[in-house]
Amino acid sequence: MIVCQYPGMLTSFLIFAAFAQTYTADVLPVLRKQCQGCHQPSVKQGNLDLTTFAGLAKGGNRGPAIPLLIDYVTGKRQPRMPLGAEPLPEEQIAALRRWIEAGGKDDSPAEAVPSSAPQLYRQLPLINALAYSPDGSLIAVSGYREVLLHKADGSGIAGRLAGQADRIQSILFTSDGKTLIAAGGAPARSGEVQVWDVASRKLLRAVEVSNDTVFGASLSPDGAKVAVGCADNSLRVIDVATGKEERKIPHHENWVMATVFGVNGKRLVSVSRDRAAKLTDSTNGQFIENVNLLRGELSAVARHPIRDFVVVGGEERVPYYYMMDRPRVMKIADDTTLIRKLEMQNGVILALAFSPDGKRIAVAGAADEVRLYDPETGDRTAALRGHKAGIYAVTFSPDSRQIATGGFDGSVRIYDAVSGALKTEFLPVPLERRASR
Ligand code: HEC
Repeated sequence: MIVCQYPGMLTSFLIFAAFAQTYTADVLPVLRKQCQGCHQPSVKQGNLDLTTFAGLAKGGNRGPAIPLLIDYVTGKRQPRMPLGAEPLPEEQIAALRRWIEAGGKDDSPAEAVPSSAPQLYRQLPLINALAYSPDGSLIAVSGYREVLLHKADGSGIAGRLAGQADRIQSILFTSDGKTLIAAGGAPARSGEVQVWDVASRKLLRAVEVSNDTVFGASLSPDGAKVAVGCADNSLRVIDVATGKEERKIPHHENWVMATVFGVNGKRLVSVSRDRAAKLTDSTNGQFIENVNLLRGELSAVARHPIRDFVVVGGEERVPYYYMMDRPRVMKIADDTTLIRKLEMQNGVILALAFSPDGKRIAVAGAADEVRLYDPETGDRTAALRGHKAGIYAVTFSPDSRQIATGGFDGSVRIYDAVSGALKTEFLPVPLERRASR
């Protein structure tokens, strides 16, 4: 030690050491708890992903986020973060400030990202995707680098499908229940579509798609094609049997967040941050028309089970229910295909589902409840409560009687689709003993 010539220096060294803040110990827990609900790959408000150091350093619309953090959490820059919530406690702001003043260094261990799904989780992963098997016996839940198959009554794990994609954004079953498709990836690295044989729990094929996470996968009604949305503004159509990418469709001007096939499987609706819901001929990739009048960024779409009607939603918080086809000659900025709009939600819309019997639409997102509507009248029929805000996945059971939800808090909840009563709640992943969140 050459420093200790002067008592003053020693004291300041000790004080500095005592208060030295690190990204992993002091910053990440704050971001995880207070910020990641709105700043993560599938939501990314302000184009900012706060789930990794790289995302924080890269920043969002206004460039690198480290120099902006304090201004946003103190409200020097508006809107103050966390948006719509209590300001951060003084000591958390002070910890962020000290970490930045000390150079804002990354100390996340190189091995922070395990190379396979953990056997036991240290914390609950976000739930981005949920799907019931067509016979109603299983619920598939997205985990970290895996899909967990749960018995649909929540009584336990029936299988684990561990793949490569860090995050699974969509899960689909073919209508015969034999094949499960999981799509997702790692932000800014890779996108993947996995095809699983459900009975043997074996991966049949994994297809690399683009070099970024893929979103909003949908399956053609005959189960032959999967469509996915990409961060390069395209949507892609992949043949399930061969894994071949058949088409790259470039009609959007921003990330494509969700897709759905029309009833006969020939046409596709895709929604994007560019605010458009676009109708495309999936057999030749040709753009047909915009389904909607452009308003806010869109993140979700769902189709009526037997009609070419779609509900779309996103930033504007209003679900719009449209016909895919225009009965009359199209005019510019014409909204004659709008069947009805539903009430405004308390948060951005991130997930939509239609019940298989066509009688209900479920709307979920950044609000702390999921709401159900009668598509015929637009009336709200139930509100599903008990969530923390940030519900990213919602799906009806095949008999339309139940709804499963999941999101930021990592818990799967199953509700009665008529009364809205909570029936069961379970944690989808096995946790280490002392784990908590
Ligand atoms: C409820 C949602 C929500 C939460 C929670 C939230 N943010 Fe935000 N954040 C937003 C939105 C929306 C914007 C875009 C605001 C704008 O550009 O007008 C934004 C923008 C930002 C930006 C500016 C990004 C850019 O480059 O334009 C920063 C930095 C930021 N947030 C940091 C944070 C931090 C730090 C937290 C947690 C302490 C947090 N946010 C929590 C919704 C949220």
